[in-house]
Amino acid sequence: MIYLDNSATTKLGEEVLEAMLPWLRDGYGNASSVHSLGRRARVEIDDAREEIAAAIGARPAELIFTSGGTESNNAVLKSALEESALADKLAVSAIEHHAVLRPAEALRRRGFDVEILTVNADCRVSPEMVAAVNHNRTLLSVMHANNETGAIQPIASIRNAAPDALLHVDAVQSLGKIHLRVDKLGVDFASFSAHKIHGPKGVGALFIRKGIDFKAHQQGGGQERNRRAGTEPVALIAGFRAAVRTAVGQTESYTAHTTSITNAMRTILIAKIPSLRINTPSENALPNILNVSFTDAERLDGEAVLQSLDMRGIAASNGSACVSGSMQPSHTLSAMGLPIAEAKAAVRFSVSKFTDLAEAVEAAEALVEIIANMRE
Ligand SMILES: Cc1ncc(COP(=O)(O)O)c(C=O)c1O
Repeated sequence: MIYLDNSATTKLGEEVLEAMLPWLRDGYGNASSVHSLGRRARVEIDDAREEIAAAIGARPAELIFTSGGTESNNAVLKSALEESALADKLAVSAIEHHAVLRPAEALRRRGFDVEILTVNADCRVSPEMVAAVNHNRTLLSVMHANNETGAIQPIASIRNAAPDALLHVDAVQSLGKIHLRVDKLGVDFASFSAHKIHGPKGVGALFIRKGIDFKAHQQGGGQERNRRAGTEPVALIAGFRAAVRTAVGQTESYTAHTTSITNAMRTILIAKIPSLRINTPSENALPNILNVSFTDAERLDGEAVLQSLDMRGIAASNGSACVSGSMQPSHTLSAMGLPIAEAKAAVRFSVSKFTDLAEAVEAAEALVEIIANMRE
């Protein structure tokens, strides 16, 4: 299998597995227990929190562990508007992950004012548009990097454009891939997930800036200083810690490696597919994503393109959700202004540090052949 779907999830790192095994095998104590097995688990959780917080420019007390990006996003939106009553209004970009858009829709149904911010053809939210929104008691949610196109949002400028808003950033795709410090970005909340950086599935974190009175979205025990109830999954947290250590420590080599691969793929596709449109911006984008579509898409079957790639042992993706057997156009590409047929038939290649150039070239050549065959 040539695995080019690393924005969906990644292979577990060997060092991550090694870091988790002792906690799965022997270190099964509950971190809230007073005996030594429990205390050992508590120390690992505290150390992991300290290390991950330092890696993202936060203080340990500003980080809570969650089950991943989806929970962190839901927690911010729902807690800020409901449990904690920090804001009365929500403004979210049109290209957010469904883990932001769906809770936003739920809040709208419950009577909150929800504004959707559009993006330009480059998949970018403009700080000018943000400045035009009324920020009084508003939670603004704009993702750091888009999971379909890789476009990086100008978060620091957005922060300046909305000084009074509470700002949440979904940083699930950017952690470990680009330089990221929550203190420099000036955000109030940020969501993270381990499984996009060779960590385990089912664990992530939420940054909550010091001083924000954040009430738990999930009630129960007093874990995470009463901000997230539930027995902490020590092995997953240990794995998350190892994944962050590797990814943040290797950002420069990761960027060089993944950039050279996506550039090579881009060159082949541009040269050999006349109707190609590149949806990943040429600047300020994640280095590991290449999203393409075809301007003659009405003659192509988007699902068949991915199936043909799969039959050749190549795992890629398109941003569209497959709902009851029919492809839905990608909401991100639609927001960028792509026609429906094109937004349904996009292909997203997302590479990792484990991808090698030869297999990426093979995948690009395969796509060229598949598109040529379909036209015939
Ligand atoms: C931008 C973004 N936010 C949130 C999520 C959800 O994260 P998790 O799978 O950890 O719940 C994803 C994963 O697809 C994502 O790409």
